[in-house]
Amino acid sequence: MDTTNATVFIPGATSGIGLALAQRLQAAGSTVVIGGRRQSLLDSLAAEHGFGTVQIDVSDAASIAAAATTVLGSYPSLDALITMSGIMRNEDLRSPDHIDDALETVQTNLVGTIRLIDAFLPHLLAQPTATLMTVTSGLAFVPLTATPTYNATKAGVHSYTQALRQQLVGSSVEVLELAPPAVQTDLMGGADFGGMPLDAFADEVIALLDAGAAPEILVQNVHPLRFAERDGTHQQILEAMASRGH
Ligand SMILES: NC(=O)c1ccc[n+]([C@@H]2O[C@H](COP(=O)([O-])OP(=O)(O)OC[C@H]3O[C@@H](n4cnc5c(N)ncnc54)[C@H](OP(=O)(O)O)[C@@H]3O)[C@@H](O)[C@H]2O)c1
Repeated sequence: MDTTNATVFIPGATSGIGLALAQRLQAAGSTVVIGGRRQSLLDSLAAEHGFGTVQIDVSDAASIAAAATTVLGSYPSLDALITMSGIMRNEDLRSPDHIDDALETVQTNLVGTIRLIDAFLPHLLAQPTATLMTVTSGLAFVPLTATPTYNATKAGVHSYTQALRQQLVGSSVEVLELAPPAVQTDLMGGADFGGMPLDAFADEVIALLDAGAAPEILVQNVHPLRFAERDGTHQQILEAMASRGH
């Protein structure tokens, strides 16, 4: 992905990782359109940074379709999509009440990603070159005990991304997967779970993209989780994360 010359849509960039990457991509010379549900943030971020904006709820098929029409109408040269939107909820699986959180998490993180790709892939395939980057997590590779459905959706997106990439071999679309480690954002309502600073993470991601890292974008901090199976540390890390109370 050419960070200096892309026209990129990032649903899920009203805060956190999406916003940090949006700022860096724009500063590098790309044209950036951000999306999210919170219109007030879209308005203030457009005024502050000059991003294009579109309101989108990725848990709603009609909202995705409408946003895609708006974005592609205004930015016909769009050549990159980063499926950033996501939620993360604690669930006690002994309580039947968790099902509402589970369904919302699947609808947002997994179904939302699938629908976004459906909405934008025909356009991206028609570009001379294009990038589609999904967003998973280190927790796709070793689950955090407290957030079972979140982990499962991220493992699902990882698998889906691999199949998509293979289906698109020989096409103009490069399929990347960003798998962040814990990063300090508002994802869990600002709870501190030992994440790395957001700016350091976003700087490292841009450096990896500029270095041509592919197909997985893995900052150093995520390597222990990403390669736990290979390294024989999976169970040990799983238990260590569980005992930290997450
Ligand atoms: N922070 C971490 O430690 C970490 C680690 C691994 C992976 N990730 C992943 O990184 C991505 C960004 O998370 P973050 O940490 O930056 O947290 P964040 O600050 O809470 O950002 C989440 C973004 O997703 C958007 N979003 C949530 N539900 C949405 C919906 N239904 N429709 C459209 N947009 C929606 C939010 O915008 P609105 O509220 O305005 O809709 C917001 O822009 C997520 O996919 C997350 O799973 C984060």
